[in-house]
Amino acid sequence: MTKINENYLKLPGSYLFSEVNRRAAAYAQANPDKKLIKLGIGDVTLPLPAAVTAAMHAAVDEMATAQGFHGYGPEQGYDFLREAIAQHDYRARGVDIDPSEIFVSDGAKSDCGNIGDIFGLDNVVAVCDPVYPVYVDTNAMAGRAGEYSEASGMWSKLHYMPCTAENGFSPAIPDKKVDLIYLCFPNNPTGAVATRAQLEAWVEYANRNGSVILYDSAYEAFITQEDIPHSIFEIEGAKTCAIEFRSFSKTAGFTGTRCAYTVVPKALERGGASLNFLWNRRQCTKFNGVPYVVQRGAEAVYSPEGAAQVKENLAYYQNNAKVIFQGLQSAGLTVSGGINSPYIWCQTPDGMGSWEFYDLLLSRANVVTTPGAGFGPSGEGYIRLTAFGGAEATAEAVARIKAVL
Ligand code: MLT
Repeated sequence: MTKINENYLKLPGSYLFSEVNRRAAAYAQANPDKKLIKLGIGDVTLPLPAAVTAAMHAAVDEMATAQGFHGYGPEQGYDFLREAIAQHDYRARGVDIDPSEIFVSDGAKSDCGNIGDIFGLDNVVAVCDPVYPVYVDTNAMAGRAGEYSEASGMWSKLHYMPCTAENGFSPAIPDKKVDLIYLCFPNNPTGAVATRAQLEAWVEYANRNGSVILYDSAYEAFITQEDIPHSIFEIEGAKTCAIEFRSFSKTAGFTGTRCAYTVVPKALERGGASLNFLWNRRQCTKFNGVPYVVQRGAEAVYSPEGAAQVKENLAYYQNNAKVIFQGLQSAGLTVSGGINSPYIWCQTPDGMGSWEFYDLLLSRANVVTTPGAGFGPSGEGYIRLTAFGGAEATAEAVARIKAVL
C-alpha cells in the first residue's frame, strides 16, 4: 500500500489565505448586492509598469524568430537579469554580491518553501509569532515541526519568537541554540522593521551558533526610513550565515507574472558543504527556470523608465498605507506598520478576537481583512490590512470601517 506523507495530515484545515478567501466568497455569494473591498491578501492592483510590458512585448517578438528563440534557459536565471540585480539591488547599496550567488525563481513563496530541501530534518527551526504561514507550514510538511496543538495553535518542535506590542514587534534573540531562523523585514504581517543594530545581533548569534538566517526581504522596497537596512547583506558577517529572498511581486507588480530571486552567498558553508552548491543542485534538478519573456520584463524594472514607474507605483501604495494608518488611528484604533511596509497591523477594539473582528468588518463594512490569529497565537487580537488596493477603494474601506466603529 502506498504510504502518504502523513505530515500533511497534521496541518490545520486550510492555508490561511485560502480560508480568508473562502469566507469572503461565501459572504459575497450570500449577499450579491454588497460590494466587497478586499484589503486581505497582499495582492497588487496596479498594472505592470509600461517599461516592463514593453520589454515583454519585445521579448515575445524575439521568441517568434529563429535567432531570438529561447528554449530552456539557465536554471539559475539569465546572466542579464542576475547582473542587473547584483548591480542595482546590491552594489548600488554598497553590497558586493556576485551574480553567481543570485538564483532567479518564480517566487519568494516557492523559494522560502523549497529552501528546506537543502537542510536536514533534525534542525531546530525558529519563527516569529505572528509569522508568514509559508515558513511554518512547509517545515510541518517536511516533518521538522513536530505535532500541532489546536489549543495553543503551535507546533511542538518549532521555536516561537513572540513579536508583540511590548517588544515593538521585534523578536528576541533565542536564549538557546536554534539552527534555522526565519526573519522577515519589513515584516509580514506586522509591518515592523529591523534596525541595523538588531540585524547585527542576529548575524552575530547565527555565526556564533552555526545557524542559518533565512531572510525574507520581499518588502524592502517599501522602506522609507533612511537608516533601515534593505538587505541582511548590509551587515558585516552575514555572508557566512544568511540566505536572502527577494521578489518582484510587490515591488513591480509581478504577483501574477512571477519572478523573484534568492541570494545564497558562496561563503556560506555548513557541514563542510557550500549551500550555494546545494541550492544550485536543487534548482537544476527540480526547476527549469523562469520564462525568458518574464526575465526580460524583470530586467526592465532596473531601466531608468522602469525604475521611475516602479517608484510611482510604490508611492501610490505608500499613500494607501498612510490613508489606512491615519484613518484607523483617528477612529481610536491602535495601529502600527504601514510606514516602511504595505501592511498595517491593527489591534481589535475591546479585546475582540481576530476572526470575530474579521467577520464584523466583512458583514458590516463589507471589507475583507486578514485576521491576525491566522499568523500565529501572538497575532490574536489583531487584524492586518494591505495597502495594495485601489486608492479610491482604500479610502472607501476606511470610511466604512470608521462608520461601523
Ligand atoms: C500576503 O498576503 O501575506 C501575501 O499575499 C503573501 C504572499 O506573497 O504570498
